[in-house]
Amino acid sequence: MSVHKKAIKRVTTHVLSEMKLKGEKISMLTSYDYSMAKLVDEAGIDVILVGDSASNVMSGNETTLPITLDQMIYHGTSVVKAANRALVVVDMPFGTYQGNSKEALSSAIRIMKETAADAIKLEGGKEIIESVDRILSAGIPVMGHLGLMPQSIHKYGTYTVRAKQDEEAAKLIADAQLLEAAGCFAIVLEKIPAELGQKVAESVKIPIIGIGAGSGVDGQVLVIHDMLGITQEFSPRFLRRYHNLAAEIKGAVGSYIEDVKAVSFPNEREQY
Ligand code: KIV
Repeated sequence: MSVHKKAIKRVTTHVLSEMKLKGEKISMLTSYDYSMAKLVDEAGIDVILVGDSASNVMSGNETTLPITLDQMIYHGTSVVKAANRALVVVDMPFGTYQGNSKEALSSAIRIMKETAADAIKLEGGKEIIESVDRILSAGIPVMGHLGLMPQSIHKYGTYTVRAKQDEEAAKLIADAQLLEAAGCFAIVLEKIPAELGQKVAESVKIPIIGIGAGSGVDGQVLVIHDMLGITQEFSPRFLRRYHNLAAEIKGAVGSYIEDVKAVSFPNEREQY
């Protein structure tokens, strides 16, 4: 008798748009390596973002700007190997799509070819629409990112809430509609007033995934190191910590050090 394993139903961009239609919220978390992505995928997450926040949490940089295309491809490749169900989106790093649309397309093609991810994400609206169009025309699914855009930190100088003024809010809505009209399958909205988040979600048909954009959007995303409490110094209002892994890891490492010093590790059963 042969045993057939039930195939896992993969999350696709189509599944995400159906979720919005049905009012089912989308869950998204970042991951940057195989082991973490495997756990996140097995827990049932809808979307895994290989965020350029890897620059901060994996490499210890102050901003997301230094991370390179090769480094994003390295992280993306590791995550894709682990994901059996989740849709995997890889961030395009700073400097790989803003210059011109031809360069944007070749960067996006490298990500798709070398990582086997499902989609790419980039930051911006009207300013980068040519790049978005060109990437989409090659059949590559694109997720937008508006509101606080960490790759533009040097333009704004702070990570404070964006689009509090009417003019910036109107531009944000127009950019979201532009990205939708171009063919993006979803948009991340970062750190904007909740009322505006809901307004954007209601003004487009594609899913809006928020991070600090309130509960009126179509889904939520957090950086895994923040929500697990591995990072300790970063505490914005929007962040809910589901664990204090920093304390647990330090406790476990402390016990290991004590055991090694006391020669209680390894014991008889732990050696050959
Ligand atoms: O890089 C990242 O982790 C992100 C999320 C904050 C959405 O873009």
